[in-house]
Formats: sequence, C-alpha cells, structure tokens
Amino acid sequence: MQTKATFVVGLQYGDEGKGKIVDYLAEKSDVVIRGNGGANAGHTIVLQNGETLALHQIPSGITYKNIVNIIGNGCFLDPVKLVEEIENAKSKGVEISPKNLFISKTVHLVLPIHKQKDEQRESGNKGQGSTKAGIAFTAADKALREGVRAEIIENQDELAKIGDKQFTEASAQLKDYLCDSVALIQESISSGKNVLVEGAQAFGLDINHGKYPFVTSSDTTVAGLMSGSGINYKQVGRVIGVAKATPSKVGGGPFVSKITDEQIAAQTRGEKGKVDSEFGATTGREREVGYLDLVALKRAVEVNGIDEIALTKFDCINRHGETTKLAVAYKLSGQEISSPPSSAEELVQCEPVYKELPTWQDDSSAEAENYLKFIENYLNIPVTMIGIGPNREDLIIK
Ligand code: GDP
Ligand code: IMO
Ligand code: MG
Repeated sequence: MQTKATFVVGLQYGDEGKGKIVDYLAEKSDVVIRGNGGANAGHTIVLQNGETLALHQIPSGITYKNIVNIIGNGCFLDPVKLVEEIENAKSKGVEISPKNLFISKTVHLVLPIHKQKDEQRESGNKGQGSTKAGIAFTAADKALREGVRAEIIENQDELAKIGDKQFTEASAQLKDYLCDSVALIQESISSGKNVLVEGAQAFGLDINHGKYPFVTSSDTTVAGLMSGSGINYKQVGRVIGVAKATPSKVGGGPFVSKITDEQIAAQTRGEKGKVDSEFGATTGREREVGYLDLVALKRAVEVNGIDEIALTKFDCINRHGETTKLAVAYKLSGQEISSPPSSAEELVQCEPVYKELPTWQDDSSAEAENYLKFIENYLNIPVTMIGIGPNREDLIIK
C-alpha cells in the first residue's frame, strides 16, 4: 500500500531546529530525504552520547541504523564538503556507507569556481551575506542550463576535465553513493515505507517568497521539496512547519521583529560555544535575534499548507525577561496591516505591533499554555511539538 510522505520545513529565516525535529521523527521513518539547499545549511543534532553533530548536506536521519538517507535532485552538492562531512560524522561514531546514504545522479554539483565566485562577491561591495558555499553560482549555472550534474562522476574522463584535483578526487570517492533517487523514492512510497522529507533554509529565505534579494537560491517550500525529491502532491501527508520561539537571522535583510535592546538580544543569543546559542552552525556568525513574528509566520503557513507547528526553543523564551512579545500586525506609513508586504524595501519600513505576554519558568504553567493558545488561535493550526532543549528527547508531543 502507498504511504504518504511527511514534510518538515522551516518557516522563518532558517536555523529553526529542523535538524532536531527530523532527528526525532526519523525514528519512525524508513527513508529521510533532503530536497533543497546544500552546504549552506547547518542542521545541529545532539547524539545519544551527548556530542554535537552539525550536518550540512547529509539528511538528519543518518544517526539511525537501517534508514535510507537520500540527497535529492533539488539539492546542490559540494563533493569536497560532503567527503569532509562524512569523515567528521564517522569520527563521531556515525556509520555511513552506500548502504545508508544515496546521492541523486541529477543533483547539481558545486564546482570550485562557484565557491571562488561566491567568495569574491562577498568580499566586494555586492556581498549578500551568503555562506560562501557557492550556492548562488551553482544555481545560476543550473538555470542557464550549463550546470554539471552528479552523473558526471560515473565518467572519469569527463570528471577529470572539470574542477581541480581535490574536487576530482572527492567526487570519485562518492561514485558508489550515486543512484536514481526518484526511482528509489517512488519505490519506497509504493512499497509502504515511511518517508520523511527534510527542508533546508526556510520561507523567509525562499527564492520566490523570501525577502529578495536577501534570500538563498532554492525553493524552500513544500512545493520546492516535492520537485526537489520527485514526490507528487497526492503523496504529501503530514506537513510540519518548524518555528523557533526565539527567531534568528544571519546575512542581513529586513527583520521586523528584531530585538533592538542590546542586553535582551545578548541574553537571548546565549553564550557562544553552547550548543543552542545563536551563532551559525555553518559559518559561526553571530545571529540577529527577534521576537516571534506571527504576521510573517501566517504567510509561511498559508503558502506551505502547514498542518501543524513544531515550536522550538520554548525553553528559551524566558531569556527575553519577565515578558515576551509577539508581532501581531505591522505599521507601514502610519497604517496597521496584517499581511506582510512582499517587498524587502517596504518591509524595512515596517514597525511591529506587539502583543506582550508573561514568560514562565515551568513549561507546563498556565502562562506557557496561554502563550501556546495565543499562537494556535492566530495561526488557526495546532502546535503539536514543543522543543524544550537541544536533545532529541527534549520535546513535548501534544
Ligand atoms: P536548523 O538549521 O533548522 O536545523 O537549525 P540549527 O541546528 O542551525 O539551529 C537550531 C539550534 O537550536 C541548534 O543549536 C539546536 O541544537 C538548538 N535547538 C533546537 N531545538 C531546541 C529547543 O527546543 N531548545 C533549545 N534550547 N535548543 C534547541
Ligand atoms: P539552515 O538549513 C540560516 C542565508 C545566508 C544568507 C542567504 C544566502 O541551516 O536553516 P547562500 O549561502 O544560501 O547563498 O546565502 O541565506 N542562509 C541561511 N541562514 N540558515 C540556513 O540554512 C541558511 N542557508 C542560507 O546567511 O543570508
Ligand atoms: Mg541551521
């Protein structure tokens, strides 16, 4: 019997804790797929031995035995970084082989030239705050129909003509991991396997719906993931949107609900070096932090068709102090609006209209319940998973 796939997507500006939610859900899955993004992503999971593992291109189901992890056709694959990532995960006791990791033959490769161009742009006056992973330039070549797909790895002679020695050697090491990912995914669904699709980045960074040009180069929505994995709309089951109660952003661009009080921002960010402090998992950059923005969240819920919210860092809300704030509308040119403007220029001019609510120490207190109810009423969908710490089991399931 056919099953329906579960999708997990980010609803804000990335780093919502998608990795942790996928790591939790993977326990009941047979297949975990990444369908967008590449080495620009950083998904942190905490291993059972307490060690932290930052995954960039490898799906977050990798720590379980017997799960098929697939890097889908919609991703951008950096062979050099992937080989490093595999080695790093192995050094932490994670088993990785062509038996549990599969790479789509049609995934586009990030070449050394793409990374050089990204580096160059970031160091000049046209920098966009990218992760310098070469994503924009790989995506540009893909759209120009001049890209190189992973299938080239099967052809030694052709492979030797592109990239440098390091690139060619790393690519060659990945040969046995290549597969027809769409066939594998469709077979899995037809044979009743539980399939989980893990999004990278988030709605605010989406190439179509994000705050252009402060976005990444892939479709981060459920629709993007369907296309990026080869799953049709009838095969879409549960759609879970991950939102962080203490949202963060890196790389510039508008952030309406940004915390402007430096002391509260520093408190919210947490101590550098701690697993859940707000410094990039990929670049180590300090993240800007904000209050929960329900206006932006509502649009992300609408466009993705989110069924339920996984709300992470619930335990961190009290870092805001005695009270926390939620943006319930914006003010633009003196007018109150409840639909977020689509232009980044207009967004920069928006002022948040906040609802203030008391914080709590006890996650099951009336104040905590009240906060959750407020979000559920505003978004009109349930919060079904509540993150109360960085570990897999630090989750309240409703
Ligand atoms: P991703 O890119 O969406 O997978 O998120 P990241 O891993 O980049 O960033 C999320 C950070 O929050 C990581 O450091 C996680 O360990 C941490 N985290 C996730 N969920 C929770 C939670 O519920 N509470 C706390 N305190 N930390 C969390
Ligand atoms: P995860 O999956 C947070 C941001 C960069 C920059 C913009 C473009 O961990 O949530 P790019 O390198 O993609 O060309 O950069 O997008 N960005 C992310 N921010 N989390 C991510 O991924 C991100 N991936 C890209 O900071 O502003
Ligand atoms: Mg991240």
